[in-house]
Amino acid sequence: MDFRELVKRRYSVRSYKPDPVENEKLRYILECALLAPTAANRQAIKVILLPTEGHQERLKSIYNSSWFCSAPYLLCVCSIPGKCWTRSEDGKNYSDVDAAIVMDHIVLAATELELGTCWVAAFDVEATRAILKLDDAWEPIAFTPLGYSDQPVPNKKRKPLEEVVIHSGHNLGQYDASISKKAALTRQQFRSSLGRIGLVRKLHRLLSGS
Ligand SMILES: Cc1cc2nc3c(=O)[nH]c(=O)nc-3n(C[C@H](O)[C@H](O)[C@H](O)COP(=O)(O)O)c2cc1C
Repeated sequence: MDFRELVKRRYSVRSYKPDPVENEKLRYILECALLAPTAANRQAIKVILLPTEGHQERLKSIYNSSWFCSAPYLLCVCSIPGKCWTRSEDGKNYSDVDAAIVMDHIVLAATELELGTCWVAAFDVEATRAILKLDDAWEPIAFTPLGYSDQPVPNKKRKPLEEVVIHSGHNLGQYDASISKKAALTRQQFRSSLGRIGLVRKLHRLLSGS
């Protein structure tokens, strides 16, 4: 499976089978999480692995949705902002970015092994801190269930490429030369109008004898 096929197969799974997740698969996914890049290689990230069996009632208060605790595992990616890299110029802390890359590695590795996941950010932070007994220095960034999907791969709803990708021309910062059809058309119209101006000038020269 090439990378594009892999990302096409990943989707937000909101219905899971109760089938267990094999230990080797779990280990593979967690190793992939560990290989994620982090700013300045600080690796100030924690991945909390939560078996759900017998804990569904408590875990539900983290995110109250029937599917959230229906897979055999829940994973929570936390960052430790105080230990993550901060850009000295403006003080921007990259902990969210580091955590997001780790979670994406988890999600894509799981997809490769035909396991389902779903990013969950709309969780109750206080309930999470209390139930998982999180260290104050840790910030929970996202959860995902991990298990076998019980739903088919849906079609992806995405904006057209031209709306998202902005092609900067040779003059950096001038985004009017986008690759959108509209812009391509405009450039074509521009060129043909230049051509017409050239013709008019030639005609004018011929007629005026200059
Ligand atoms: C940062 C982030 C947070 C998300 N939080 C939630 C969430 O709290 N609940 C949920 O059901 N889906 C959540 N999602 C899933 C998105 O709704 C989903 O990725 C998007 O609709 C695209 O669908 P797809 O994942 O099937 O391609 C989140 C996704 C991302 C990337």
